[in-house]
Amino acid sequence: MSMIHNPSYINQPASFESDAIILGIESSCDETAAAIVRGDGHIFANEIASQAEMHATHGGVVPEIAARSHLDTIGPVIERALTSANLNPSDLDGIAATGGPGLIGGVLIGTMTAKSMALALDKPYYAINHLEGHALTARLTDKVEFPYLLLLISGGHTQLLAVHGLGQYERYGTTLDDAAGEAFDKGAKLLGLGYPGGPAIELAAANGNPKAITLPNPRSQYDDCHFSFSGLKTALAQKIDAFKDTVSAADFAASLQLAVCKALVKRTENAMQKFAAETGARQLVIAGGVAANKMIGQGLADAAARHAFQLAIPPAGLCTDNAAMIAWAGCEYHAADLPSSLDFAPRPRWPLDPDAAPPPGRGVRQ
Ligand code: KG4
Ligand code: ZN
Repeated sequence: MSMIHNPSYINQPASFESDAIILGIESSCDETAAAIVRGDGHIFANEIASQAEMHATHGGVVPEIAARSHLDTIGPVIERALTSANLNPSDLDGIAATGGPGLIGGVLIGTMTAKSMALALDKPYYAINHLEGHALTARLTDKVEFPYLLLLISGGHTQLLAVHGLGQYERYGTTLDDAAGEAFDKGAKLLGLGYPGGPAIELAAANGNPKAITLPNPRSQYDDCHFSFSGLKTALAQKIDAFKDTVSAADFAASLQLAVCKALVKRTENAMQKFAAETGARQLVIAGGVAANKMIGQGLADAAARHAFQLAIPPAGLCTDNAAMIAWAGCEYHAADLPSSLDFAPRPRWPLDPDAAPPPGRGVRQ
């Protein structure tokens, strides 16, 4: 069987009517998760075991701790998913697992588990790109049709992509340095608000004044779709040094949240213009952990309305890492009859658009 990934010729939407039942496994970062989803979008089970507490004392994810914990937890989490779905392994029509990008230890564990189950059950195996899992979630939750413009905002990635079809992505922009989630995580660390930083910043910001300090609006002079967030972190560190006696953590948090929101809105507006001109479609989808942020969601909703775009944001629990999105991507590949080979090798890096031209600047994230 040949292996097909990011196939550029697939453009048919899934029917949203398939009754295939797919188990999805997610283990690429610090969540061990298993979910069971049907091809019509029904979620039977969506189990997640977070390691956040184990990493909190280190202020970030420690790869060795993550891998060991995935190994201990993956079996019980899959069993929990089957039990809460009231299904047997023989009811499954396929097994999907994140095959990258991510921390290689965890990806290996999820991949080996999925391959073993597929082999034992004699069912197809689907190696899913974690980013494609995020990208397709709005099709699971809102049945959004191709093509659409995607703003993917997570802890490791910040990208604007035209989604033309399954496996068919055109990158409009990416970050030159830090990801949006990283800006929150690093900002929270500077403010002593703990890890993960995004939810902590959002909580603190609720009682803060977003105009307490002025932070830069990175790359606002360019009308392209690329991001840069590392300067924000440096500027925040300087403002904390200068004003920590008079400005509260809540005020710093609110100011950071506003600055990230403004940068995301500006770039997305540029991308909406480009996407509408190129495709004639007016659909925006937000995905990834940062999409759980209410202020950012509102800022993007206002921007979408200004540009006459429809907007879909999956519920918070399906924006942050989860296995339902992996199971759903498995449903899409199952409907397209595109299984992966059991020879699939996990990929620490796996860009959605491998042909994208590099953006200006150095230290570019794929
Ligand atoms: O997609 P995700 O769960 O994992 C990755 O694939 O990276 O995203 C995690 C990122 C973290 O940086 C976290 O701080 C951020 O999403 N995040 C948030 C919020 N919830 C999670 N950022 C801002 N506001 C939130 N409410
Ligand atoms: Zn993610």
